Amino acid sequence: MPYEDLINNFKTPMYVFDINKLVTRINYLKSKFTNKSLVYAVKANTFVAKELDKYVDKFEICSNGEFDICNKLNINHNKMVISGVYKDYESIDKMVKYDIDRFTIESIEQFKLLESMCIKHKKNVHVLIRLTSNNQFGVTEEEVKYIIKNNKELIIDGIEYFSGTQKTSLKKINKEVDYLKEFIDSIEQEFNFEIKEIEYGPGLPIHYFVDQEFDEDTFLDEINTILEKLGNKKILLEIGRSMVATCGYYLTKVVDMKTNKNGNYVIVDGGINHLVYYGQTMAMRIPYYEVYPKREKEIKNYNIYGSLCTINDIIVKNINSFELQIGDVFIFKNVGAYSSTEGISLFLSRDLPCVLLYKDNKFIKVRDNLKTSDINYPNY
Ligand SMILES: Cc1ncc(COP(=O)(O)O)c(C=O)c1O
Repeated sequence: MPYEDLINNFKTPMYVFDINKLVTRINYLKSKFTNKSLVYAVKANTFVAKELDKYVDKFEICSNGEFDICNKLNINHNKMVISGVYKDYESIDKMVKYDIDRFTIESIEQFKLLESMCIKHKKNVHVLIRLTSNNQFGVTEEEVKYIIKNNKELIIDGIEYFSGTQKTSLKKINKEVDYLKEFIDSIEQEFNFEIKEIEYGPGLPIHYFVDQEFDEDTFLDEINTILEKLGNKKILLEIGRSMVATCGYYLTKVVDMKTNKNGNYVIVDGGINHLVYYGQTMAMRIPYYEVYPKREKEIKNYNIYGSLCTINDIIVKNINSFELQIGDVFIFKNVGAYSSTEGISLFLSRDLPCVLLYKDNKFIKVRDNLKTSDINYPNY
């Protein structure tokens, strides 16, 4: 990526999502899961959703806001899976009027709501029942059975299951798939009812830190083999992080530097309000990054801090770099998933980063740097 162009033409902090890299990544995942459908969990990054339209089978949408974004991007309703732990009446009422592909059921209340919508709109809505992994999401095994027994209006296509993100244990995934298989077999027998589809979120991990070893090829092949246990059911893999993390870059500029008895402090114009590395602990792990412009100078030890008023705003501690100066730009990598949506971005009323897509050798600005002072302002 031509960093010089980027830095000369756009204001830091900024996110850049490299679309060619994204497409290569999706094609790689497709090559690993050849007979599975891919569902993109929009929450991971709303900015690249449209770019994924050609490559994924469906979009998992968990709020009215995500629905509005996808709707505005002209993502077809028949590719939308409306999910989420809270489905409010007005939003669902609006969505059922469209030909939405399917909704998930995460509670008995949601079951009743969707049934009432079928009656109101004289439609049979397609659903997946989300089986809980024993947290606030989804319903229990008994509730799945209750829904199947009492359903009059809905077309139940299958089961959704997601138990967490950044899963590196094949053992855990194996156990989950065994559990799902056993449960599905038992309801099919008990109710003489076919579960046609399983939408499973494997929580595929990303290799974020330089000290991590990860043979992704083998890992994904193993998951594919584990999933074969589900037989001839249609398998949809609901993925966010693993699809989009690697296409993202976060650029933040050195704006101040100081030294005291605890070390060399570098202050950048961004911070943890924009940058989230899952698994980072006390800023001790070193994510993949570069500094621009690169120089061959004396190596020094630095701690990189953001510009929030909290001692927690440490991006990375204890890195060795050529001698830094004000104006240098840190380019943090693998930030395509969650950073742009998950950061504590309103804290301290700092501006939000601008967002660029890098596509066909051009930068396209898809959001300006936004003032959060307007949002944090009490308007009276
Ligand atoms: C229901 C559901 N499916 C899929 C995902 C995406 O998970 P990941 O980003 O680990 O692929 C999430 C993330 O929170 C989720 O809640």
